[in-house]
Amino acid sequence: MTGVDQLWDVVDGARWHVRDEPDAVRHEILPLWNATAGGGGQQADVGFYLRLVAATRRPVAELGVGYGRVARWTRPDYGVDESVRMLRRSSARVPGMTVVAARMHDYVLSEPARLSYAPQNLMSLLGPADETLEALSTMRRNTEPRGELAFDVTMPDWDRLHAQHGVRQVRGQVGNLRLSYVAELLSVDAAAGQGALRMHHLVERVDASGRVRTQIRYPPLPVHYFTPLRWSALLARAGWLVQDCWGGFGNEPLRTTSRQQVWLVRR
Ligand SMILES: C[S@@+](CC[C@H](N)C(=O)[O-])C[C@H]1O[C@@H](n2cnc3c(N)ncnc32)[C@H](O)[C@@H]1O
Repeated sequence: MTGVDQLWDVVDGARWHVRDEPDAVRHEILPLWNATAGGGGQQADVGFYLRLVAATRRPVAELGVGYGRVARWTRPDYGVDESVRMLRRSSARVPGMTVVAARMHDYVLSEPARLSYAPQNLMSLLGPADETLEALSTMRRNTEPRGELAFDVTMPDWDRLHAQHGVRQVRGQVGNLRLSYVAELLSVDAAAGQGALRMHHLVERVDASGRVRTQIRYPPLPVHYFTPLRWSALLARAGWLVQDCWGGFGNEPLRTTSRQQVWLVRR
């Protein structure tokens, strides 16, 4: 497959910078990602998780709480994230939330949650199937009997992923910062219902005349996709009972053409 390194345009006169802090791809890219084109649609998830939290008992935990985009509305009792920078930002936005700095594969809450929820593809960031299974088991251990887990993940579209491989996509611009990315497809096993890619992000600082002044490259972010069938097998192996899987945040039925999978499972 095409080497991604050759794909960025070299802009004359622009300063190059490689961001080698692994966490930067989260605390610098995620807010920009959400603020650029398409970010508006993301807000539909806030309403969905807000309704779930309102309908349940506490304690509630947000898994991969990030900078508190959802948590500032849902007010979970616990916010779990491996990024200390992210936790600092979310705890400032959600007073009273207990932060847990840990990986999704081995976090421990001081009491089991009634509901845990993981917005915005967190479950696609947990590694290949065996590592995702490990995280699903950890989540179950941290859930009270008959307690629930909710999450949303992208519906994989293998043709689209093949077509986008190595092609620079401009996500959008906020102020003088323009965000682009290249998806580097690593593997697709359609029969097994899984595939993996690495996202390479680039932020360009643009001046008032539109000229690129600085280009900042970020370390690659691995993403793992599973079909609904593969997800149901992983959930069953980890001991979760599926209550529902929708094709969107408005509880639309799941179809092969759905762009999202929105899961609600019970211990
Ligand atoms: C896609 S963001 C979602 C953030 C937030 N829930 C939202 O919707 O805006 C994922 C968050 O999960 C965290 N994260 C990713 N992989 C993780 C892992 N293996 N263990 C713990 N946290 C992880 C990242 O640091 C990031 O803050």
